[in-house]
Amino acid sequence: MTSTLCYALDPVRWAADKFSFFCDPWQAQVLRSNKNLILNASRQSGKSTVCGLTALHRGIYFPNSLILVASPSIRQSSELFKKISNGIHQLGIRSDLLEDNRTSCTMANGSRIISLPGDEKYIRGFSGVNLLLLDEASRIPDELFYGVSPMLSVSKGRMVMLSTPFGKRGVFHQQWTEGGDAWERIEIPASLCPRISQAFLEEERKTIGEWWFAQEYLCTFTETTDQVFSYADVNAALSDDIAPLFPVHSRADSEILSTTLQPLFRIGGKS
Ligand SMILES: Nc1ncnc2c1ncn2[C@@H]1O[C@H](COP(=O)(O)OP(=O)(O)OP(=O)(O)O)[C@@H](O)[C@H]1O
Ligand SMILES: [Mg+2]
Repeated sequence: MTSTLCYALDPVRWAADKFSFFCDPWQAQVLRSNKNLILNASRQSGKSTVCGLTALHRGIYFPNSLILVASPSIRQSSELFKKISNGIHQLGIRSDLLEDNRTSCTMANGSRIISLPGDEKYIRGFSGVNLLLLDEASRIPDELFYGVSPMLSVSKGRMVMLSTPFGKRGVFHQQWTEGGDAWERIEIPASLCPRISQAFLEEERKTIGEWWFAQEYLCTFTETTDQVFSYADVNAALSDDIAPLFPVHSRADSEILSTTLQPLFRIGGKS
């Protein structure tokens, strides 16, 4: 029987033996890394799944770990948290949980996994963080990044930012291009994902057009060359706190929504 020590040292083997999860080569690199990571990855490549496994492995084999999962919204953080809690159930260690609800759990070994909203106001107060996952990191507000970063300072914890690009803006783009040696960077275009077929990609390129295709599947930080205002300026002018004067159901909105959701339904169903 493989020992606990072996699984602690080799998360790739642990994932294979415990979950029949066979990593793509880049996913093995993620699981084995002990550095700060930026994953610039295609839609549906498997980034959330492997980061969920990373969190679970850390929680199980390093007692008293504090692991935070944040994203632009609590719904998205909860999606990743759900992957983690499904793993806990699959391993049959649910009864070892002292506390278990939709957004946080505490394991019997003292490790805690907590999912958080993307609003910097609500996430202050954690210290001694060992692992911080920022899912959909290209869409998080910059303040969130600057708010959570100090939580890792004393504990010397790791940050993992995972995302598909969303324009040349924000901390995800900035750290990817200018973040220096602080990060290990892994780029995962759709061609590196064996579950996304060439035929699908060709069809998708025709359907959504070059601009979206480059962003969603080729890891390209796209920006239109003829736009008057930069993404950063437009984004800075937006606020979720102000109710729209009129219901927004424009064609442009529905096009953006359907382009964003399309890959979920076309590559083997929902993740
Ligand atoms: N190594 C693997 N072997 C088999 N299936 C995998 C593997 N990695 C990921 N998957 C599956 O691929 C699908 C997409 O995974 P996941 O949700 O992690 O992708 P994602 O990159 O986070 O997607 P999105 O861009 O929508 O956020 C899921 O059904 C997941 O179970
Ligand atoms: Mg995801």
